[in-house]
Amino acid sequence: MNQLRFYGQACFTLEYNGTTLIFDPYLSANPAKVAMPEDVHPDYILVTHGHADHLGDTVALAKANDALVITTAEMGRYLTAQDSAIRVEPMHIGGKWAFPFGTVRITPALHGAGIPGGVACGFVVELEECTVYFAGDTALFSDMKLIGRRKAIDVALLPIGDRFTMGPEDAAEAAALLGAKTIIPMHYNGNPRTQQDPYYFASLVKKCCDADVVILNPGESYQV
Ligand code: NI
Ligand code: MN
Repeated sequence: MNQLRFYGQACFTLEYNGTTLIFDPYLSANPAKVAMPEDVHPDYILVTHGHADHLGDTVALAKANDALVITTAEMGRYLTAQDSAIRVEPMHIGGKWAFPFGTVRITPALHGAGIPGGVACGFVVELEECTVYFAGDTALFSDMKLIGRRKAIDVALLPIGDRFTMGPEDAAEAAALLGAKTIIPMHYNGNPRTQQDPYYFASLVKKCCDADVVILNPGESYQV
C-alpha cells in the first residue's frame, strides 16, 4: 500500500514499501500545522528549490533522520554548506537516477531558485506500481506534454495558487498536457495571496480532460 499524505502548501510524504519520501518539507513554519519535523521520519527528502515554503525543515530533517536529500546540484551545495554532515544526491534537470525505491527524473520548473545561481525543478518518481509527478512551484509550460510520454503519470501534484505559480486555469491546461490519471492540487490557501477554490479548479479540469481531481485537506492522505 502506497500512501501520499498532504501537509499543506507543497509538502507531501509518499510512503512506499516501508520507505518514506518527503517532498518540500515545510512543516514547522507551515500554517497548516499538520506535523512538526520530529513527527516525520523520511528516508529521502526531495527539494525543488530554496524558497522557505519548500526548503522548509530540510536541514533539521536530514540531520535527525540521516536522510538522503535529492535535489539540484546548487541546492545540494547550499545544503552541505549549511552542514557538511547532510547527505546529498545531486541531480539536475533532464537527468534520472535509480534509487532503491524507484527512479527519480528531474523536470524543469519555471520559477525562481530561491538561491543564487540555481534553478527550480520538479520530480517524477517512478515506483514499481505507480508514477508520481511533483511539479513544484511552476508556471505552465508546453513541454509538460513530454513529461508523461516516457511513462504514463498516475498522479500529478500541481500548484493552483496563482500569483507565484500556475493558477487554476493554467493548472487545468497542465492537467490536459500531462495526461495524468489523477490530479491533486497544491500550493493554495497557504497565505492570503493564494486563495483558491479547488472545486473551481476541478470543474476546469473536467472541461478539458479525463483526469480525476482529488482534493486533499492538509493532513489527509490518498492511496496511490
Ligand atoms: Ni517558490
Ligand atoms: Mn512556493
